[in-house]
Amino acid sequence: MRIGFLQLRPRFGAVQENVRKAAAMLDRISDATIVLPELFNAGYLFRNKEELSSLAETIPGGFTVSEMLRLAKRRRLNLVFGMAQRHKGRFYNSAVHVSSKGRIEVYQKAHLFDREKLFFTRGSSFKVVSAGDAKLGLLICYDWVFPEVSRALALGGAQILCHPSNLVLPYAQDAMRTRCIENRVFAITANRIGSEHRGAASLTFTGGSQIVNPMGEVLASASDRSESLRVVEIDVGEANNKNFTPNNHLFKDRVPSLYTALVRKRR
Ligand code: ACM
Repeated sequence: MRIGFLQLRPRFGAVQENVRKAAAMLDRISDATIVLPELFNAGYLFRNKEELSSLAETIPGGFTVSEMLRLAKRRRLNLVFGMAQRHKGRFYNSAVHVSSKGRIEVYQKAHLFDREKLFFTRGSSFKVVSAGDAKLGLLICYDWVFPEVSRALALGGAQILCHPSNLVLPYAQDAMRTRCIENRVFAITANRIGSEHRGAASLTFTGGSQIVNPMGEVLASASDRSESLRVVEIDVGEANNKNFTPNNHLFKDRVPSLYTALVRKRR
């Protein structure tokens, strides 16, 4: 199967412009699973909840999902992208999967980073979704810090970790290679580039989007400066072999009772 990332430089608040630019870049390809950055449609640095409210959309029904769904069906793409979601009076930093068949699935970010805690509600479950015969595990940016997330997704059957990101620190790319080795899965980290200066707050995003295989090898990567679309061919079945050595199985060797014993003792 073909998997890839679209690294972008969104303009804050310009939802229609951002979505149309991404759609035009993706309109050149077909028959692939592609990951886009976190909050790719709206930008990242909301000044306050009112501003977030003006940019958040319902899923389904909003402009972004409608456009991406049309594109996914037309080009036979499975798309995973980040966006601000309005749901029952709350706001979520969400990753959406729209399938080539028209299915829509949503993961709401469980580990909120820094000022995201001021505006967003954290999600309460993880999600593994189907893209054709492949299983995708959804996580968003700062979720990478918690190895439990990748492990839970892999134990839940994920073969490819799909990781929309707005990374501002330099650690995630190396960490995701480790996540791939320890779970024997593929990972697609789709980061953004550019800077946002909003009021007193300012951030520069670090690019370096990448596709990693179950051996931790980087199959494709992007720079920290340019928008780019990269697609590679993989055998997703490689993620089904969890044997580290002939005598070691990454999942069967686990001893979960040991992992919580010290925590229980300290209580
Ligand atoms: C992040 O979670 N956007 C760093």
